[in-house]
Amino acid sequence: MVKLIAGVVGIVFCLALLWGAVAPRTAETPDPVAKYHLAPRDVSWQNDNPGGLAVFGTFDRAQLQRGYQVYKEICSGCHSLKRVAFRNLTDLGFSAAQVKALAKQSDVASIDDKTGEPNTRKGIPADKIPGPYANEAAARAANNNALPPDLSLITKAREDGPRYVFSLLTGFGKPVPADWKVPDGLYYNPYFRSLNIAMPPPLSADGQVTYADGTKSTVQQNAKDVAAFLTWTAEPTLEARRRTGIGVVAFLVILTILGYLSYQRVWADLKRRKPEMLPAE
Ligand code: HEC
Repeated sequence: MVKLIAGVVGIVFCLALLWGAVAPRTAETPDPVAKYHLAPRDVSWQNDNPGGLAVFGTFDRAQLQRGYQVYKEICSGCHSLKRVAFRNLTDLGFSAAQVKALAKQSDVASIDDKTGEPNTRKGIPADKIPGPYANEAAARAANNNALPPDLSLITKAREDGPRYVFSLLTGFGKPVPADWKVPDGLYYNPYFRSLNIAMPPPLSADGQVTYADGTKSTVQQNAKDVAAFLTWTAEPTLEARRRTGIGVVAFLVILTILGYLSYQRVWADLKRRKPEMLPAE
């Protein structure tokens, strides 16, 4: 009797297993985030790689300078850029004197030489660009408990970095789908992973910055310039890396040719001999 019950239980178990393997899956409940989320838009920069080869393309210095201006005048109100020092800005084509002047515009936390009390002093080129908040708690307190991330490496930290940043900045103001809810204090942006972002639209109108080089200042242009600038902050040595890459490949090509030629030469003697002259097998 026990054997019989055990057998039945076993068969039922096996059948259940089989059913689990072959039963048609019920359709997944559609995920509204996946439904409305958009992939980054297709934009290109001078430092992109023509034909997808990651070897050519240099930064557009004028664009990097404009991007820095957008960062400084708009984004730096909430976002830090703590891995970049003022002296690094000479890479953007600023002269040493210009960098000194830019650094001087910022106040940096310091300590009074005479009293030992904390105070602030004017920035110097060796200083890292100071952030807007003393720490994370202060940053959250000012932003509805959301944390504006440091932007130094953001184009590396997000898939399709520069294109993502460009799309995010130009992606505000799209009509909210009827079945989607945007809580108070958040903003709808289909390029953001959860569609509701805590960042208020930073570039809301054309002409928010006035470019020194006369470039027309539109939202698209501002977004494109700041995305180029943030590509540079995340990889300032991009051009050097590419130059080295080209050099290394050229070296390997020459080495291969030399190797082939010396192979021909070393074996030339043996190849010329008649078969009967070769050692018997
Ligand atoms: C008023 C403050 C404020 C300003 C100004 C601002 N941001 Fe933000 N930003 C935020 C906050 C807050 C978040 C965090 C959003 C979240 O997690 O929902 C954020 C997030 C981001 C993110 C990360 C999104 C992600 O995928 O996690 C990027 C990129 C960004 N901001 C770029 C910029 C750029 C570029 C500018 C200047 C053009 C700028 N922000 C200006 C407050 C600001």
